[in-house]
Amino acid sequence: MSNRVTKDSWNASLYDQQHAFVSHFGGNLLQWLALKPGEKVLDLGCGTGDLANQMKQMGATIIGIDKSENMVQQAQKKYPGLTFRVQEAATMNYRNEFDAVFSNATLHWVKTPKQALQSIYQALKPGGRFVAEFGGKGNVQKITKELIHQLGTSYQTEQFPWYYPSIGEYTSLMEQVGFRVTHAQHFDRPTPLNGENGLRNWIEMFAASMLDGLTTESKERIISESTKNLRDDLYQNGTWIADYKRIRVMGVKE
Ligand code: BEZ
Repeated sequence: MSNRVTKDSWNASLYDQQHAFVSHFGGNLLQWLALKPGEKVLDLGCGTGDLANQMKQMGATIIGIDKSENMVQQAQKKYPGLTFRVQEAATMNYRNEFDAVFSNATLHWVKTPKQALQSIYQALKPGGRFVAEFGGKGNVQKITKELIHQLGTSYQTEQFPWYYPSIGEYTSLMEQVGFRVTHAQHFDRPTPLNGENGLRNWIEMFAASMLDGLTTESKERIISESTKNLRDDLYQNGTWIADYKRIRVMGVKE
């Protein structure tokens, strides 16, 4: 899910072709959710709808939301029987409606985490659960350090596109809005990227806003230099491996 406010730069077809690992990994998170048939679930940051569809097949009623209109259109095209809406975490306005709010690979785009958690809490029925996984402290640090190094003085810290909290920070915010936190993990998840151009494609898809405002030539130089310098560290046995670090949390609305 994109939290960039100015434009919808997501290419949903490319996302499905090159970055399908995002929802594949999310399948593991469904085990934490432990859905029961008939439950009503909000999929927050549904992307192109694959996990929403899996949850529907488990017997749940799903509403999938995403800030990106392109993603929502693609999700609706792939899964016409499901309900998808263009909405975002911090401003959605559901009240006591869901048995669970599920979110995979989205909340690192939300730079107003407390407002998002308030909206999530409000959307849940009493006793409802919130299960999420996203980038945690130190996520993709090798990649971002190299990009920042290449950007040099033209880089401003506000350009950093993500929010990567520690579990201490995030679970405190969860408690502040009223959740009882039942589970939290912060773990390394080295993530293989597709193909010889995997790292380049990842940067172009996910880190594009760090390069906003540069000429095409400068962007090309930064991406080429970065991939060259990161090769020793992140290219192993013919595959690019991104240095993902995830947090996973679960909390109950009391
Ligand atoms: C992540 O899933 O951790 C992630 C994906 C894209 C950009 C940044 C982080």
